[in-house]
Amino acid sequence: MSLPHLSLLSLLSLFSLSSAYTTTLSLSPTAPPLANPWQRLAHLATASTTRAHHLKTNALTKVPLFPRGYGGFSISLSFGTPPQTSSFIMDTGSSLLWFPCTRRYSCNSCNFADIDPTNITTFIPKSSSSAKIIGCTNPKCKWIFPNLRCRECGNNQTRTRCNQPCPPYIIQYGSGSTTGLLLSDSLVFPDKTVDNFVVGCSIFSNRQPAGIAGFGRGPESLPAQMSLKKFSYCLVSHRFDGEQVTSDLVLDTGGGAAAKGGGIKYTPFRKNPSSGNAAFHDYYYVTLRKITVGGVKVKAPYKYLVPDSDGRGGTIVDSGTTFTYMEKEVFELVAEEFERQIGKKYGRAAAVEKEAGIRPCYNISGEKAVDLPALTFQFKGGAKMALPLADYFSFLDESVICMTIVSSGGMEDGFGPGPAIILGNYQQQNFYIEYDLENERFGFRSQVCNEGT
Ligand SMILES: *[C@@H]1O[C@H](CO)[C@@H](O)[C@H](O)[C@H]1NC(C)=O
Ligand SMILES: *[C@@H]1O[C@H](CO)[C@@H](O)[C@H](O)[C@H]1NC(C)=O
Ligand SMILES: *[C@@H]1O[C@H](CO)[C@@H](O)[C@H](O)[C@H]1NC(C)=O
Repeated sequence: MSLPHLSLLSLLSLFSLSSAYTTTLSLSPTAPPLANPWQRLAHLATASTTRAHHLKTNALTKVPLFPRGYGGFSISLSFGTPPQTSSFIMDTGSSLLWFPCTRRYSCNSCNFADIDPTNITTFIPKSSSSAKIIGCTNPKCKWIFPNLRCRECGNNQTRTRCNQPCPPYIIQYGSGSTTGLLLSDSLVFPDKTVDNFVVGCSIFSNRQPAGIAGFGRGPESLPAQMSLKKFSYCLVSHRFDGEQVTSDLVLDTGGGAAAKGGGIKYTPFRKNPSSGNAAFHDYYYVTLRKITVGGVKVKAPYKYLVPDSDGRGGTIVDSGTTFTYMEKEVFELVAEEFERQIGKKYGRAAAVEKEAGIRPCYNISGEKAVDLPALTFQFKGGAKMALPLADYFSFLDESVICMTIVSSGGMEDGFGPGPAIILGNYQQQNFYIEYDLENERFGFRSQVCNEGT
């Protein structure tokens, strides 16, 4: 990636440099000054009930989720006045929202399935009357730069010289990165508008098929900025990638109706005890107690199942990861158990494994029905996730099936900081999934997500 520094500075001139300071939320910004205190109280009471009514009736916002060929699920969100619509990967493994921004946006290695890298829609801040650059002294700048010191503004300096912007962010993802400046603008839904929403205006990205909507636990995430009590989704099968088959991402600001049908199993979220890496506090950790293959418990060492004080180990749920990742030792135990149970029945397709880079793969040509062991994850509190077969074995062609769980490729035992198991979106297909933030718990239920299509 080329060094972004110079261009980012020149980018500053593209925006109107108004301070993005936000004031406290007022119940009724248009309230006329009222002399009589009783009148004032009555007015506030009316404003409060109106607002409560508004919040209740608008408690649930539904956003269509699209399965995408690049391995993620995307949503469309509109920002600005008038609104401009951008596509975002829905990512519970990170927190900032950012979009490709300005006409100068450039993206390196951005050839992905169902993406035309030469025709990426970008947000144009100059075309939005509500877009403002986040200033260095804006408390929201500290969301990304907690230890930031802004230049002091002496008494005899002019106000404009004090308008130092929040520094450019650079975010590294598992693969790829993005960099840009923080903006504040209105996030516009058909039934509500969230003003002064912090969003990244990215100028350079590396290996990014779209913008990213962070649904993690950081203060800059969509759930945090919207004060959601809960959000939920049901991921349709990736076999619909690129088609117009969608399901709902439901954003719940409280008081929304419970999910229909019940039968949701819950397990508490857990915190990563490490203080070192801030990213670990963005993740949704759950406590995986047991993995079984065909009813046989895989003896995964405890150190992988629970994060230690260095932030090593543990399981997170991540919609932005495609195939579930397991630390090498755990992966080998799972793969060996499958091999032990079905290796005699089906031949290994070694050549395919080498080529596709995933394993184990089995040659099932000539088989009328394929019989494979069940894979289950059991979480703290007894919640048991029995995966549909299509979530962990996939057809590579009509005669070969491969397990859709991955591990670090290297032979070295590099068990570093970070989660040992990442529950990816492939293993969440056809589950109703709920992030119950108010009650700090993760819920799920087996469900066909493309019903009615
Ligand atoms: C570029 O994208 C826009 C919106 O997605 C679409 O309407 C247009 O046809 C595309 N242009 C090309 C040349 O693909
Ligand atoms: C403020 O102004 C005074 C007099 O004009 C000058 O002596 C002083 O150096 C200035 N201070 C700063 C911090 O610029
Ligand atoms: C699978 O097995 C069949 C018959 O045993 C063989 O003809 C075919 O080449 C094998 N396919 C692969 C991909 O190994």
